[in-house]
Amino acid sequence: MPRIPSSIKRILITTEEIQQRVKALAAQIDHDYQDVERLYLVGILKGAFIFMADLTRELNTIHTVDFMALSSYGKSTTSGAVRILMDLREPIEGQHVLIVEDILDTGRTLHYLYNILKGRNPASLKTCVLVRKLRESVEVPVDYLGFDIPDVWVVGYGLDFADRFRTLPYIAEIKQT
Ligand code: IMP
Ligand code: MG
Repeated sequence: MPRIPSSIKRILITTEEIQQRVKALAAQIDHDYQDVERLYLVGILKGAFIFMADLTRELNTIHTVDFMALSSYGKSTTSGAVRILMDLREPIEGQHVLIVEDILDTGRTLHYLYNILKGRNPASLKTCVLVRKLRESVEVPVDYLGFDIPDVWVVGYGLDFADRFRTLPYIAEIKQT
């Protein structure tokens, strides 16, 4: 177990809590998609790669794993423009698609992505989000949710601060500088 870096303020969600919740989410997804031949998981890079790696291994439903990379501009502004840096490898028309996202903050990224993918005519489109910040956000459906957290900057389990702390095995609040 790596030591806790000094810039971590407090651990919000422990490794055990994450593992339990991911298992429960997978069970719920398996239940809901039991009549579906194949599920198409779309992970959002970079943040969702660890969540995806754990979720995919808990699923019994036959599924394809794919990724998209998005960049959002003007985090501190209200512009909220989102750009696709890397797209899916296959068309998703007629597929049962589940977006796997690490965190919902303003909701702009997921909102944008949801509409893009909806426009590609999947058979169904749902979202699975590991953590959601309790704050005002763009209206976007979250079908599977891991945890609600306070509106603070969190790192670990794929989440970063300037590309650091992604590999911490827990989700923690970072000290504001
Ligand atoms: P949104 O579009 O404001 O919902 O922001 C979504 C993206 O911002 C996420 O996919 C993350 O990449 C990043 N983000 C927002 N809040 C945090 C945080 O607390 N820690 C790490 N990344 C975050
Ligand atoms: Mg992300």
